[in-house]
Amino acid sequence: MRKRTIGLLRLMRLRGLLLFVLLWWLLPLTVEASRPVLIEGAMSVETEWMIEALAHPREERIGGWRFVSGDYQGTPVVVAVTSVGMSNAAAVTALGIERFHPVAVINQGTAGGHNPVLHVRDIVVGARSFDASAWISHQEASGADGRHVVFYRYDEAMGTVTGEAHYIPADATLLAVAMECAKGYRNGRVIQGTMATSNSWNRQMARIQFLYEQTGSSCEEMETFAAAVVCQRFGVPFVGIRVISNTELYNETFQPETGLFCQQFALTVAKAYAEKRKLAEEGV
Ligand code: 5AD
Repeated sequence: MRKRTIGLLRLMRLRGLLLFVLLWWLLPLTVEASRPVLIEGAMSVETEWMIEALAHPREERIGGWRFVSGDYQGTPVVVAVTSVGMSNAAAVTALGIERFHPVAVINQGTAGGHNPVLHVRDIVVGARSFDASAWISHQEASGADGRHVVFYRYDEAMGTVTGEAHYIPADATLLAVAMECAKGYRNGRVIQGTMATSNSWNRQMARIQFLYEQTGSSCEEMETFAAAVVCQRFGVPFVGIRVISNTELYNETFQPETGLFCQQFALTVAKAYAEKRKLAEEGV
């Protein structure tokens, strides 16, 4: 009788151990599979459609910013409404990364065209972005007219400033996935390009032309670089995606409904990226 009890106890312990090992092995896999793609947009015309498209939406506010988690056709997504400008975008990106541990961040929305090939409804996938407000002017004495400035970057390790724009590249896989998705975009053309980020809205042709020629900027907006800086710090894959909603070059004024096209495109990219990541994890 005693022997049988001891045997049973041993069996139960062994079972418990096996269950523990199984959970230990499975838990990280399920946690990994539930990590979302964080998609940011500044204004409601750049976020509402995505929020509506989420199944099982759960909303929370951090520091007053709105984060909505849900499921887009099997892909976990968090939509963050950043509000306008670089400081908002940076704060929301840092908070979103800490709170949701996303596998990737996409900052998307509307933008003004700099590249003359672009018209309203076209999309720019940001191969890189830079801070278009990080510049040093010349002095009047040297013939400066207030437009022509030298862009700079601060080298943190060296503690020095160099006279070149600070470009942050997009994550190569996200960029490739977005360009693959571009083949399905029916509302205009999609190009790879450079986002010029600042808190300004340029309407001066000469300045737009200068930015395009000096920095290779495709379009201007107010958030991408700020989000890119934070993602680079945290080592989270990042890409910016922008729809042209206005371009001074052709007198095409701001069309808010273009925000819808960018949201649709961003969700497609998020889903394709998550699926590609899953296949890579499964070793396919
Ligand atoms: N210049 C600057 N920002 C623009 N935006 C759209 N077009 C432009 C433009 N030509 C976006 C910004 C910001 C909001 C005002 O619209 O990213 O979020």
